[in-house]
Amino acid sequence: MSNDDKNNNAGREDPPTPTGMRKGLTSYGDKGFSLFLRKAFIKGAGYTDAALDRPVIAIADTGSDYNPCHGNAPQLVEAVKRGVMLAGGLPMAFPTISVHESFAAPTSMFLRNLMSIDTEEMIRAQPMDAIVLIGGCDKTVPAQLMGAASANIPTIQLITGSMLTGSHRGERVGACTDCRRYWGKFRAGEIDADEVADVNNQLVASVGTCSVMGTASTMACIAEALGMTMPGGASPPAVTADRIRIAEQTGAQAVQMARDKLTIDKILTPAAFENAMRVLLAIGGSTNGIVHLTAIAGRVGLEIDLPALDRMGRETPVLLDLKPSGQHYMEDFHHAGGMATLLRELKPLLRLEAMTVTGRTLGEEIDRAGPGFTQHVVRSIADPIYPQGGIAVLQGNLAPGGAIIKQSAASAELMEHEGRAVVFENAQDLAERIDSDALDVTAQDILVLKNIGPKGAPGMPEAGYIPIPMKLARAGVKDIVRISDGRMSGTAYGTIVLHVTPESAIGGPLAHVRNGDRIRLSVKNREIALLVSADELAQRARDNPVIEPTADRGYRKLFLQTVTQADQGVDFDFMRAAVMVGKVPGAAADRAKD
Ligand code: FES
Repeated sequence: MSNDDKNNNAGREDPPTPTGMRKGLTSYGDKGFSLFLRKAFIKGAGYTDAALDRPVIAIADTGSDYNPCHGNAPQLVEAVKRGVMLAGGLPMAFPTISVHESFAAPTSMFLRNLMSIDTEEMIRAQPMDAIVLIGGCDKTVPAQLMGAASANIPTIQLITGSMLTGSHRGERVGACTDCRRYWGKFRAGEIDADEVADVNNQLVASVGTCSVMGTASTMACIAEALGMTMPGGASPPAVTADRIRIAEQTGAQAVQMARDKLTIDKILTPAAFENAMRVLLAIGGSTNGIVHLTAIAGRVGLEIDLPALDRMGRETPVLLDLKPSGQHYMEDFHHAGGMATLLRELKPLLRLEAMTVTGRTLGEEIDRAGPGFTQHVVRSIADPIYPQGGIAVLQGNLAPGGAIIKQSAASAELMEHEGRAVVFENAQDLAERIDSDALDVTAQDILVLKNIGPKGAPGMPEAGYIPIPMKLARAGVKDIVRISDGRMSGTAYGTIVLHVTPESAIGGPLAHVRNGDRIRLSVKNREIALLVSADELAQRARDNPVIEPTADRGYRKLFLQTVTQADQGVDFDFMRAAVMVGKVPGAAADRAKD
């Protein structure tokens, strides 16, 4: 800068960063005109200048007739708006993509990244000082946090909340662990078509997310552990007054975050991710939680260290007694005090200095929640429902990039097991042969399903919960070792190895497993081994080279060209942070981000 420039700038202050309606003006080449035009249009909806001068709090509304897990979105939007108005802000709701598990083909995971792009770009495009993200069903919360992490404005997550449980012939039931259990009974001939139709009316007793510790509940708990929700925001069921009150508080807090410029990068620190990993293990959370947490971390330049997660698991018992690892449902967790009860118990293992959306640290919020009370849903560390973390990370020649197993939902007698591979080449092959009486299979075999990974299906569907072959189910077999490069619903259970990386569709060793090969699973040694020599595997790869799937156009083409493997969160490679700054947990990452 020349002396003249310095003299000319003397006494001048940088122009204030635009806020509210002045943010992100449309490019007409004349900023004054851009604001004039914007205000003219919004006034067409009846707004006054007094309203338009307030901080703008956007609300990402994911209500959709296709998404009953978000069926309370209209009430939540109304309550958030009330909170925003009470705190002096201007609420502006807008729609984004909404994804429901049972209404998305080929699988909701195929659309998670699209929803994250939608969320990020609408945050960037529209004027807002803070945003409330309303999410709940499995992929929605991760998609929203991924997008918001990339956009980096003050952000607060509002969970839609869990559904209520139903009752079937005197038994309490809820989606979706009981959906699978009753379907399994029907397949095994234990109940008839009339009964399976009856229970179909009871499994989902209200709007809201699945009532067990599936992926939605897992991500709700993770969002609170990350510091991204109001304290107590994870557990209130969708149709309760508590849920509506949390929504109102969320709106009010968003205004405060806008005033304090409490951007999401101040919350999504390595300490926050470490807390989320700890909570994932302690709640017996869905294996999908790892993939989503990895994707969210990748947006802020952090890698989840899977071996370290496994080490954390050895000192983090499962404390939460919820299905499928335990007995209870989300509404019971809420009645037991919700996340405050769990976090109080986990306190010695947590990074208490992590910042939250309230502007206070996680440790301060735990203290503010007060003392606990007698309850039977969150166990003490001295009396866990499972002695280690719910998820174990496996290594071996079958999964050079790692694989995982939800050990808390597996059968103890199968966790050290060697058996003969019974191979299915893809989901279609599985559907055609799994119930055939001619299938050569015993309860001691290991079912292997290929081509359901990120590129294989595509979208890494929750098809890793391979059904028990009909002839074994009828004989009373309840579990069998299963291996795939896919995912499974957090509501599922069994001795099931998932996320085998690299996947078979890109030529991972899984692609070259054949019927009759021997496979060894040792959860104790964290091993998944294909007992075939490296030379033989190399020969098989030369004899049958894998041709990666492609598409001619559109989103599927983008997906197949850019999707990463499970160990990178199945995010698109171009959506991750340009520079990775470290691993979580890890001292290097902490220095870089804390
Ligand atoms: Fe939406 Fe289970 S289907 S949470």
